[in-house]
Amino acid sequence: MKSCILVTGGAGYIGSHVVLQLVERGERVVVLDDLSTGFAESVIGAELVVGDVGDTGSVLRLLRERQVDTVLHLAARTVVSESVSDPLRYYADNTCATRSLLWCCAQAGVANFVFSSSAAVYGVPASGVADEQAPTVPLNPYGASKLMGEWMLRDLAAASGLRFAVLRYFNVAGSDVRGRIGPATRNATLLTKVACEVAAGKRRHLAIYGTDFATPDGTGVRDYVHVDDLARAHFDALTYLRAGGESVVLNCGYGRGYSVREVVRAVERANGGPIPVVDALRRAGDVPLLIADATKIRRVLGWVPRYDDIDTIIGSALAWELRLDARAGALAIGPRSEGEAVPRTDAMRVPAVA
Ligand code: UD1
Repeated sequence: MKSCILVTGGAGYIGSHVVLQLVERGERVVVLDDLSTGFAESVIGAELVVGDVGDTGSVLRLLRERQVDTVLHLAARTVVSESVSDPLRYYADNTCATRSLLWCCAQAGVANFVFSSSAAVYGVPASGVADEQAPTVPLNPYGASKLMGEWMLRDLAAASGLRFAVLRYFNVAGSDVRGRIGPATRNATLLTKVACEVAAGKRRHLAIYGTDFATPDGTGVRDYVHVDDLARAHFDALTYLRAGGESVVLNCGYGRGYSVREVVRAVERANGGPIPVVDALRRAGDVPLLIADATKIRRVLGWVPRYDDIDTIIGSALAWELRLDARAGALAIGPRSEGEAVPRTDAMRVPAVA
């Protein structure tokens, strides 16, 4: 039987893009997802097993039955502010579940492990730019929960034959450039998603969380990476590991930052008109500036981004958001957050798909 890749969280925003690229490259993929934030409809071309990463009996059986040689572990809670208000949930669903999954991998003799980590492990890097050697001093429980996952993986690899690639994602944005899948998260918190929902008439306004940061225009600066490029990095990472590459920790970003106001301007360009914004207080756990030094991933994996352009990223995000209305039934979009609901207007422009 052809070797099989297990993708946890493969029904989620990033996971579904990863799965699609693997399937398109002829890989045999099984997805494990509890559908707490993901959607079965987002899994294209792969088997979906609905279940919990922390359920050791089921996971071990799955690894053995499907003869999984590589695990891509993306299932996680990802909202920084929620991790501040409910830290134990993050340590349970991110840290403890990862420990459980790693135990199963060790039992089943899994050879390769790609771990979805985060730029949040760095906290506030001195210059705002972090390479992989930068101190890891997470500022919030989300970052800490991911960093502990990295440590467990490193230690297990040292004690066994497992090899790994840790991908520290910076700010993932956009959607499949062919428009098949995209973020459908209920009550989304991601800037690019929220701003596109405003442009699509699904929210009244965008709140800019913090205008007094020590950044050029006072708003937070992030390194936005297109989800298709990020998905490609997963494929490159598993190709690298299968070829015998050593375990490695890699930043996944483009190495340049945009402020919240710059992102808003890109949304307005895609939208063909202004979107309503209001200045608001800083959000708990947010750092002022976070940009990747992304030289290592290009060198080690030969990763070549294809969509490193803010207008391409936002164009794909807005095109998806406008299309999402038509798919709302299929993707089971929940009620909008209170006070945010506005009737869908017909006056929105549909940008060309990038
Ligand atoms: C995101 C990821 C996090 C990852 C981090 C890496 C999610 C939910 N968050 O967090 O997992 O570790 O990138 O850098 O995937 N903003 C607004 N208004 C809004 C929303 C956001 O002003 O309505 C601002 C934020 O204050 C921040 C910037 O936009 O300055 C980006 O925020 P967001 O898109 O939520 O991502 P991060 O918090 O950076």
